[in-house]
Amino acid sequence: MEKRALGTSGLQVSPITLGAWAIGGWMWGGSDRKDSIKAIQACPDNGITSIDTAPVYGFGLSEEVVGEAIKGKRDRYEILTKSGLTWEGTKGEFHFSTIDEQGVPCNIYKYSGYDSIIAECEESLRRLGTDYIDLYQIHWPDHTTPIEEPMEAFSKLMEQGKIRAAGVSNYSVEQMEQASKVVELSSNQVPYSMVRREIEQDVVPWCIKNRCGILAYSPLQRGLLTGKITPDYPFAPGDSRPETPHFRINNLIRTNEFLESIRPLAEEKGASLSQLVIAWTLLQPGITVALVGARTQEQVRQNAGAIEVQLSRDEVDMINSKLDELNLDLE
Ligand SMILES: NC(=O)c1ccc[n+]([C@@H]2O[C@H](COP(=O)([O-])OP(=O)(O)OC[C@H]3O[C@@H](n4cnc5c(N)ncnc54)[C@H](OP(=O)(O)O)[C@@H]3O)[C@@H](O)[C@H]2O)c1
Repeated sequence: MEKRALGTSGLQVSPITLGAWAIGGWMWGGSDRKDSIKAIQACPDNGITSIDTAPVYGFGLSEEVVGEAIKGKRDRYEILTKSGLTWEGTKGEFHFSTIDEQGVPCNIYKYSGYDSIIAECEESLRRLGTDYIDLYQIHWPDHTTPIEEPMEAFSKLMEQGKIRAAGVSNYSVEQMEQASKVVELSSNQVPYSMVRREIEQDVVPWCIKNRCGILAYSPLQRGLLTGKITPDYPFAPGDSRPETPHFRINNLIRTNEFLESIRPLAEEKGASLSQLVIAWTLLQPGITVALVGARTQEQVRQNAGAIEVQLSRDEVDMINSKLDELNLDLE
């Protein structure tokens, strides 16, 4: 899989990158450590060299598992992680309440204070068992802290060689404008899938104009666009997907009807629906990376295979016209 440059930082990442949120278990009904390690270790042989994680994914667990999986093989991977979401303390902007790994209620805050970002980086390096992070991203903007502050922390961390490139996540155009005055922004990690396309309005044009990479997160809409989610799908307790708007029964049925309508194209290509969806994602303007989650080596292998799926302009147009007819109720 040919790597792609992320912005102008010099960092090269695999266009299909493994997302390790589900590997942390939290909000996904748990995870299996052995399967997770096998999935991460299967990545490079399938062309996926970049792994995206975050401290909050399993409250440290995802980073720890990534660290265990890459031990002794650090140079085969680009490691992308984040800071700016905390679950201890009350500084910053309240994000939401949740249940931690021990089943204890806790509150997540968006907090990007300078000292906190510097301290978080040390924690991530320790959990990941590495002395540098390839791409360090602010997970969510914190409206109680000036945007310049975390970016100044990123500048310091770059100067120290602890991080190689600076990115953000879930930032608006205005926030990217502000951040890029302090540090060269490599990327913005944002939600993007066939059924979630808001960024096309403003984030995508800004990123193209400013040569900033885009990591499209949840391109399978948390598994929905694989076509496997039936109305009676057996979600594990603690899996938050059934509570999200895209998984509401009406939206689920309509999305599955849409997927059935493009299945013949997938079959013609010898591809799975997931592969077709990932291939479509990578063809959209401005998208540098399809950041796809996987829990097993089989999912990794299948998702990596999307890179081989070729789609013509007419085929993309055909998919888009069907998407235009898809009327989801996401209020
Ligand atoms: N920055 C942010 O705020 C933010 C937010 C969300 C996500 N992200 C990042 O984006 C990554 C990807 O997003 P995501 O994990 O939400 O969703 P996704 O990539 O849309 O879906 C991933 C899930 O779909 C299922 N799946 C994946 N490949 C499959 C296959 N080939 N066949 C069948 N099922 C398959 C797996 O779950 P099951 O097997 O359980 O169905 C997997 O965990 C995350 O891991 C994270 O790194 C970032």
